[in-house]
Amino acid sequence: MPRRRPRAPWTLQRRLVLTVVALLALVSVTIGVVSVVILRASLIDRLDVQLASAVERSGVVLGGGDNDGDRFGDTPESPYFGMPAADSILGGPAQPPGLLALVYDGTTITTGYTDDQSGAIEELSGDQVQLLADQVNQSAPVTVDLGGELGEYRLQAHTSRTGILYLVGLPLSGVAATAAQLALIITFVSLAGLIVVAIIAAWVVRLALRPLQRVTATATRVAQLPLDRGEVALDDRVPAGDTDPRTEVGRVGAALNRMLDHVDLALEARQTSERKVRQFVADASHELRTPLASIRGYSELTRRSGQHLPPDTIHALGRIESESVRMTGLVEDLLLLARLDEGRELEQQPVDLTVLLVDAVNDAHAAGRDHVWNLELPDEPIEAIGDEPRLRQVVANLLANARVHTDAGSEVIVALQAVGDRAVITVTDNGPGIPESLTDTLFERFARGDTSRFRGTGSTGLGLAIVAAVVAAHHGAVTVDSQPGRTQFRVELPLAGAAEAH
Ligand SMILES: Nc1ncnc2c1ncn2[C@@H]1O[C@H](COP(=O)(O)OP(=O)(O)O)[C@@H](O)[C@H]1O
Ligand SMILES: [Mg+2]
Repeated sequence: MPRRRPRAPWTLQRRLVLTVVALLALVSVTIGVVSVVILRASLIDRLDVQLASAVERSGVVLGGGDNDGDRFGDTPESPYFGMPAADSILGGPAQPPGLLALVYDGTTITTGYTDDQSGAIEELSGDQVQLLADQVNQSAPVTVDLGGELGEYRLQAHTSRTGILYLVGLPLSGVAATAAQLALIITFVSLAGLIVVAIIAAWVVRLALRPLQRVTATATRVAQLPLDRGEVALDDRVPAGDTDPRTEVGRVGAALNRMLDHVDLALEARQTSERKVRQFVADASHELRTPLASIRGYSELTRRSGQHLPPDTIHALGRIESESVRMTGLVEDLLLLARLDEGRELEQQPVDLTVLLVDAVNDAHAAGRDHVWNLELPDEPIEAIGDEPRLRQVVANLLANARVHTDAGSEVIVALQAVGDRAVITVTDNGPGIPESLTDTLFERFARGDTSRFRGTGSTGLGLAIVAAVVAAHHGAVTVDSQPGRTQFRVELPLAGAAEAH
């Protein structure tokens, strides 16, 4: 079954404009209906007045005739001589156009109406006569729909002085036409008004909401800042014009600015404390260097010149010496990391990676004679831009890992190639692979496999953290792909040529 997509919510602008237009439409319709009803009622009142005078005049006409039943004005002097009774009413003086008449003298009914356009006197149909006859007893004016061409009529019945029952009517077509015209005019004016109001409302609302867009823009810009790391200058604020607390949008803008102030302070505090910690680590490492060198020097000196020392003491001195070497390495690593954290600029010199790798593999070979070391170099030398001692350290750390965290007899392949504008160094070994528990934190400080600790290999867990920090400072990338039997570290660095081309 296809799921229906939820309807997009209406924007505030759309809602406001549509509400205004809908309310105005409601008001227009109400005004229109009330006007038409009132107009119609007042027109009918006026028609009733005309009708009343027509009734009066008709009474005069009827009263002027004799009483023989079917003819009025039977005397030849009468202007109505020989006419049917209804016709004599219709033909009477000053009768309004469209008049309708029915006369019942007790025995016969005569009817007729004057045609609006031609003024000729026409007959009514049997059904219409019946409809009229039903109204003869009404004393007040009534509205009756006669159907056909005649439509609605306003009728009033009366009995003449001579006792003749008669009924006259006037068409309501004029009233209907006027009312329809008014309705049409109101409709058109309202529609035009609605369009104009919709346009103006849209414009006003957009103008009113524009500050909100600026506030949103500020929030969006701030949201894009990398606030989670490094030094962040959070200077972006909602413009002063949009922070007036007397307006709704201004309150939002002011609240956002206050929040940004707080965040800015919090970030500054965080940066200060981070800087202090870094400074502390750097200072401490630096201060530890000299005493460590002394310990190492004195123990070495004592061991060398101590022929008379018991073997236990010589062994202990050897341990002191080797541990001070290890600690010196640790202190150097910490110092280097602290400096990299400070974001100090590294050297930007072309470094021949080919030479660097040859040296590194030679050193590794010397340190790990039980391993098989392979080096795959391209025909052309490859140069990267960077800090040579740091890059040497990166490769040395990777090779040390390949030596220390694999069993004797493992094979290590070091390869170099240029891919696009990048130099790619890979260090691949066929050792046991990186423990699964480390996959997420491998490049973090002091992250090391559990087994390493017991090997007494001088594992600190800083090696890969330094690799990551140095490579990042070179705008490169380091990735790892490891499974039991194959572990590959891949370091990408910008090529020297590529950097020059920029
Ligand atoms: N080539 C490798 N083979 C297996 N495990 C490795 C390899 N390289 C690194 N590791 C694992 O990653 C951990 C972190 O390495 P590193 O940061 O160099 O610290 P360290 O070598 O001082 O322990 C190591 O303790 C080890 O468990
Ligand atoms: Mg290591």
